[in-house]
Amino acid sequence: MEWNAKLYENSHGFVAEYGKGLLEFVTPDPQQAILDLGCGTGTLTGELALRAGRVIGIDASPEMITAARRSFPQLEFLVADALELPFENQFDVVFSNAVFHWLPDHDRLLKNIRRALTPGGRLVCEFGARGNVGAIEDAFARACEEQGLRYASRFTFPEAGAFAQLLEANGFTPEVVMAYDRPTILKEGEHGLAHWMRQFFAGPLATMSAREQEAVLSRTEELARSKLWDGSAWVADYRRLRVVAHI
Ligand code: BEZ
Repeated sequence: MEWNAKLYENSHGFVAEYGKGLLEFVTPDPQQAILDLGCGTGTLTGELALRAGRVIGIDASPEMITAARRSFPQLEFLVADALELPFENQFDVVFSNAVFHWLPDHDRLLKNIRRALTPGGRLVCEFGARGNVGAIEDAFARACEEQGLRYASRFTFPEAGAFAQLLEANGFTPEVVMAYDRPTILKEGEHGLAHWMRQFFAGPLATMSAREQEAVLSRTEELARSKLWDGSAWVADYRRLRVVAHI
């Protein structure tokens, strides 16, 4: 997927903002090395650098890595695929915020992470749990159908129990595997949901004509309004899976 790094940072800075809560699971240690998997524009990589001797941020998007290098020229960033990590036995912590749900194969992902960790190393991550943005996806799918289009979700939002089992099957000992609702206020008032969709449903929207795009966006708003509009802002129905596990 192509990312608009500026739009992401200006309108969706809450992604990194919420990720800061996850940092409390990373005990500062100047001896440790941390991999920030899916670092985006590097906001949390900068925070992780204060807790480690070495930190590397990786992202599949060259545009994000360019933005991260611009903001944090003193840090190490690399364009890399999380399903093909070029690391073995190198990191004490693999940290990841709001990334796993973009990746279709969590088994392969965990195998890559395990290989990248040193013995006793920890995975600290948070991402979309089963039901995440369900009201948005349902409304968007129905709006697409009404235009004669089909929406197939590209996200992987697992249940806590299934993910805990997958961790164990890959040699991790889960410490925390917790799903929780995290309603998230979208910026830009009335335009907030459309902005969110333009960023995160950019793939499906790109396959539509301009007329279809407008019809789908405004119909999604109509369908989702009773659940997600609180009178002054759109509140996205985020549901997170928080995970801490060691090998
Ligand atoms: C999320 O962070 O949960 C998310 C973001 C964009 C689309 C779907 C989910």
